[in-house]
Amino acid sequence: MAKELRIGVLGCGFMGKAHSNAWSQVSHFFDREHKPVLKAVYGRKEDMDKLEPFARRWGYESIETDWRKVIERDDVDLIDVCVPNIMHHDCVIAAAEAGKIVVCEKPLAMNVQEAEEMVAAVEKAGVPNMVSFNYRRVPAISLAKQIIDEGRIGRPFHYRATYNQDYTISTKVPQGGLALWRLDAKVAGSGVTGDLLAHSIDTAEWLNGPIQKVTAYTETFVKERVHAETGKVEKVNIDDACMFLAVFANGSLGTFESTRYARGRKNYNTLEVNGENGAVFFDLEDPHVLQYFRYADPDIGKKIEDHLTGWQRIHVTNAEHPYMKNWWVPGCTIGYEHTFINSFADFLASLEGGPKFQPDMRQALRTQRVCDAVLQSAKEGRWVEIPA
Ligand SMILES: NC(=O)c1ccc[n+]([C@@H]2O[C@H](COP(=O)([O-])OP(=O)(O)OC[C@H]3O[C@@H](n4cnc5c(N)ncnc54)[C@H](O)[C@@H]3O)[C@@H](O)[C@H]2O)c1
Repeated sequence: MAKELRIGVLGCGFMGKAHSNAWSQVSHFFDREHKPVLKAVYGRKEDMDKLEPFARRWGYESIETDWRKVIERDDVDLIDVCVPNIMHHDCVIAAAEAGKIVVCEKPLAMNVQEAEEMVAAVEKAGVPNMVSFNYRRVPAISLAKQIIDEGRIGRPFHYRATYNQDYTISTKVPQGGLALWRLDAKVAGSGVTGDLLAHSIDTAEWLNGPIQKVTAYTETFVKERVHAETGKVEKVNIDDACMFLAVFANGSLGTFESTRYARGRKNYNTLEVNGENGAVFFDLEDPHVLQYFRYADPDIGKKIEDHLTGWQRIHVTNAEHPYMKNWWVPGCTIGYEHTFINSFADFLASLEGGPKFQPDMRQALRTQRVCDAVLQSAKEGRWVEIPA
């Protein structure tokens, strides 16, 4: 008999939708003891026109416009934080103190100090927790991890990440309000560093180990924008673009680039790792493919013959590939939304005695440390070390 896991989702926007879908779908595709039930969803009063149809569409039993009321409910076991970054700290701490299981969207917090307080709260309360760095659960990225861990690319020399978009080029895009709170530093904490590079950093440390130090440069191309909530033209305080160099503990070098001004790029999240014996490349705009270059094969202990070397496109849809046995037959692809379903499947497994879910909040605190170091480096124009 399945055990009900009663979910309260804070947020009815983009991630509210992605998470509601994932909670609804996970038991259809993965055998888990827990069966998520959508109990309550929060949205702001000013977003009521979105909140009511949202709750009906996803089958929530009730709505709240005060997020604390969702947390106080006895009939909610898990709080899922899908609201802007400024709210993560208070929501997570209140949820932990109420003894709820906590899921939180990335970036964990506005800054390291907040993140440390959140980690302390969930650890003191002893509640299971996860942070939604969902790209780890793209099957092709999980396969890259497997290939690297199997020693197939050998000693890594270079890690290269981009996360580029183009939706803020127009000076007419306001700051503030649904989705565009990302342009308001008071609500987002930072610009592309927390929003996009946090993903790249989480994936990079997962694939290639800890980053030791960084040097960064940021730019704000459009200095003033109308604020959607005040109607006034206000200074823009976020980083529109950020580039940084990194040195990893394993001695490899990293370059990270992120901007919302790369005309033509929508969600160009790529990574490449170049090792002594091979390389891997992934592009989220082509999400079911992992490119793999084999120079030498550890299984046969020798170099691949020259006339056979070249990039191999692995269509990551076989049952042997990460997560894919739970989806369709070989050749049939899955998409963006499945990364959240795969994440919740792993998180439920961890609640049921499976491997501890990563990244939890303690791991996401590391990503926050790297983000803060990047911003500090850009401000001070120097290399900044990240504490181990
Ligand atoms: N894992 C991912 O790939 C991914 C993708 C997008 C967003 N996120 C993260 O998810 C969280 C939510 O982002 P989103 O894109 O769903 O946001 P959104 O703008 O689509 O939705 C925001 C929700 O929060 C409420 N809200 C409360 N205070 C608000 C304010 N001051 N301004 C705007 N809305 C406010 C709104 O009513 C709405 O329900 C953020 O932390 C974001 O970084 C993660």
